[in-house]
Amino acid sequence: MKTLFSGIQPSGIPTIGNYIGALKQFVDIQNDYDCYFCIVDQHAITVPQDRLKLRKQTRQLAAIYLASGLDPEKITLFIQSEVPAHVQAGWMLTTISSIGELERMTQFKDKSQKQNDGIPAGLLTYPPLMAADIILYNTDIVPVGDDQKQHIELTRNLVDRFNSRYNDILVKPEIQMPKVGGRVMSLQDPTKKMSKSDDNQKNFISLLDEPRLAAKKIKSAVTDSDGIIKYDKVNKPGISNLLTIYSSLTDESIESLEARYQDQGYGTFKGDLAEVVEQFLIDFQDKYRIFYESDELDTILDAGRDKAHQTSFKTLKKMEKAMGLGRKRK
Ligand code: TYM
Repeated sequence: MKTLFSGIQPSGIPTIGNYIGALKQFVDIQNDYDCYFCIVDQHAITVPQDRLKLRKQTRQLAAIYLASGLDPEKITLFIQSEVPAHVQAGWMLTTISSIGELERMTQFKDKSQKQNDGIPAGLLTYPPLMAADIILYNTDIVPVGDDQKQHIELTRNLVDRFNSRYNDILVKPEIQMPKVGGRVMSLQDPTKKMSKSDDNQKNFISLLDEPRLAAKKIKSAVTDSDGIIKYDKVNKPGISNLLTIYSSLTDESIESLEARYQDQGYGTFKGDLAEVVEQFLIDFQDKYRIFYESDELDTILDAGRDKAHQTSFKTLKKMEKAMGLGRKRK
């Protein structure tokens, strides 16, 4: 069976963008792969975090993974900082990364601009840690939204570099992006990506938003003024984004939605989508609450940590041997 790895940062509560671009994909393919899903808290601290909030969000994210429909009997769910091989392998891959290629990463450029107190070095070395997350599990595919494409490309380059410089031991992963919803946009500025760490709450719908409030956010989403419900990302980014959200949450194709709403105004369309989102969140949060409150959540994370440790430690040892780390016994 092939292996799948993906991760989400507990740097906020995941949005419906994270759900559509990542979580929903995971659920759809969990039976076809040996799956590892990680709560990447060590990535989250590359920008300042409040420690109490971070811990809470870590547990919330674990419950959110499960509420999305991942089966804990089948998949491995774990917290990055509980499996030490990640930073160890991350460091090794940092040593074979060049500053130039790390500085070219769009996310580094975006996030470093937002820092007022100096740019944390971890923001620059984030991608080799992400590459380590992936390669430790001999990962074949990485399902992500399209903002992670550049990081996966870099991971592939680092794998080639490591294998040719040291020993041919790392597996080169493929990226997998969803057909619809690889980039869900902000509700108030649909030319910008929806992000869980956005300062303006109206820009995103969090999976734990009060469902009625989320419905309001949909109704007040920015759209153009021509009144035609048609997917056209360049000229009609607002409506296209709402069509994407509608299609992903209901599995009705965009073409079918366009046809169904052909003679209707934005008001009806947004009203219907608001109801879809509200109901989706009610159902989602019912499941979420059960996992969040349960002791089972800790049992699942403990088992996930142990399995992830076992697998990752084997790759780590091979990498150390290939690079000449540690000692040779007499
Ligand atoms: P993060 O936490 O920003 O996002 C988690 C996942 O959600 C996707 N995503 C989106 N998809 C559609 N529309 C959006 N607006 C949107 N925003 C986010 C992301 O593409 C991602 O799949 N670096 C990663 C976490 C990570 C990781 C990994 C991922 C660390 N190690 C190894 C895969 C494999 C990140 O910051 O994702």
